[in-house]
Amino acid sequence: MSEPPATPAAESAKGATASKSLKEGGTIEPVREILWGASAGVRKLETAEEVPPEMRKLIVKLMVVQADTEFASIQQHRPWLDKAPTLEDRWIEARIVADEARHGLQACRILRDFGEEGQQLIDELLAKREGQHKLDAFNMTFDKWSDVGAFTCFVDRVGVYQLRAFQECSYGPLARAMPLMLSEEQLHLNFGASVLKRMVREGPRYSGSREEAQAAVQKWYPRALDMFGHSNSETSRKAIELGLKRWTNEEARARYIQEITPLVHALGLTLPPAEFDRHVL
Ligand SMILES: [Fe+2]
Ligand SMILES: [Fe+2]
Repeated sequence: MSEPPATPAAESAKGATASKSLKEGGTIEPVREILWGASAGVRKLETAEEVPPEMRKLIVKLMVVQADTEFASIQQHRPWLDKAPTLEDRWIEARIVADEARHGLQACRILRDFGEEGQQLIDELLAKREGQHKLDAFNMTFDKWSDVGAFTCFVDRVGVYQLRAFQECSYGPLARAMPLMLSEEQLHLNFGASVLKRMVREGPRYSGSREEAQAAVQKWYPRALDMFGHSNSETSRKAIELGLKRWTNEEARARYIQEITPLVHALGLTLPPAEFDRHVL
């Protein structure tokens, strides 16, 4: 896996993080330059009007997929708002639904900047019902509480990788949306891991069983790996060249597998091979 090549701007950004924190009286320098891709070193694009057609097409495509996943997951979580096993779980479910709605809104705000075309896409997104979404993982229902645990642990974690890939990207409004979205997603995936852990350790005293948790891993892990997209995707290559994404689909998927493998083992569960039940290769 290759890191994006270090540019002078990236080096100075590194220097800025190494300096004093805000608490210690330091300052944070906003990154205003494109850090990687064909236009590395020039200023980021800050308004929809100045985005060239090819990049506009790609930003719109990426934001439609992003918003679609956010709105779909609200539909998936909704039945569990008053069915989750504990009061705390119900509260976190409510919180997740609110966060996903905000993420959807954030992606739509970026679409809205692209005028009439953006608004039309938003209208189409809001009309979508269960089963009509772009990615398989978002057309599956949460039949058991273990589905909620495995979905948030595996699928939301892929979401985090997608967002990290946009961090400090070449389109300013998108780059600036990332920090808050990332911190909220972190709660979702940690929650998922805790649900699975409690199922394994406490079984029916909490909810479900180790077997149920393992079955949910088999169900959601392949769909999560599919979400990264095709290994030889032209779109992902283009997104890197335009400074929008940092990694190819395959690089991001490999990083994800590396992170999740020890975590799943620590929960007392096992992972099927990465090729198991895959639809998107
Ligand atoms: Fe989200
Ligand atoms: Fe989430």
